[in-house]
Amino acid sequence: MDLLQANRANAVTETTVAKWLKAAKSVAVLTGAGISAESGIPTFRGPGGVWKTYRAEELATPQGFARDSKLVWEWYDWRRSVIAEAQPNAGHLALAEIERRVPGFTLVTQNVDGLHDRAGSRNILRVHGDIWTVRCTVCDRERRDLRPRIESLPPFCSCGAMERPGVVWFGEGLPEDVWERAVVATKAADLFFVIGTSAVVHPAAGLVHLAKASGAKVVEINVDKTPVSATVDISWRASAAEALPALLVDRGL
Ligand code: APR
Repeated sequence: MDLLQANRANAVTETTVAKWLKAAKSVAVLTGAGISAESGIPTFRGPGGVWKTYRAEELATPQGFARDSKLVWEWYDWRRSVIAEAQPNAGHLALAEIERRVPGFTLVTQNVDGLHDRAGSRNILRVHGDIWTVRCTVCDRERRDLRPRIESLPPFCSCGAMERPGVVWFGEGLPEDVWERAVVATKAADLFFVIGTSAVVHPAAGLVHLAKASGAKVVEINVDKTPVSATVDISWRASAAEALPALLVDRGL
């Protein structure tokens, strides 16, 4: 395909997805680290992905935390400082605008960075938790902690026990009520977007298949091919910060 053909194909994709969006009564979206890449937050996999440099088993499992909680906390503290410096990008902002325009809208995110909140999205289901929340390892008490750097690591709960990051690690279950709501929203959607995720981590990635099986039109937005690219109705090879705002352009549809 030459450049002209590629541009035409992209324009057709854009118009088709924009039409589907205009007609949709209920939209569900699954996002992953790719949507925050253009805000300067490294993804987990792919070129520059953090799991190329760091070991997930050491830093993002209950076993790793039991072995060296200070190391795990230092890593999360570093990530908090990177995220605190970042701003929501045009992709996050476009999703917040889509939410304002569509009657039923649910944003399911695997991201823990809070950039969707800062962009103005409201109906957010954080299936992998929230890096700005800490939870007691004994009494389960949760609290918000918005400090980009926590001076003394690890932090402790008022009950005296150690706290942990309020995120979901490998080998842990997802928060049940949040996950149930994600499943309900996916089943109800007539249009489902899967954006900036490698779609290899389950159960989140399973929502794509559930959406398809429930009759939704499914659109993937990703700079690369993923395991779900062949399953979806349209796999749009584009950056989230470019593709999503393009859907909001008035085409007189
Ligand atoms: N626009 C769209 N997609 C992008 C962009 C971009 N600008 N940049 C990168 N991507 C895509 C990559 O091609 C890749 O498919 O984003 C995806 C990022 O994949 P991962 O790094 O695997 O992130 P994610 O899918 O969110 O990971 C799932 O794994 O490590 C755990 O708990 C962590 O929630 C995370 C989960």
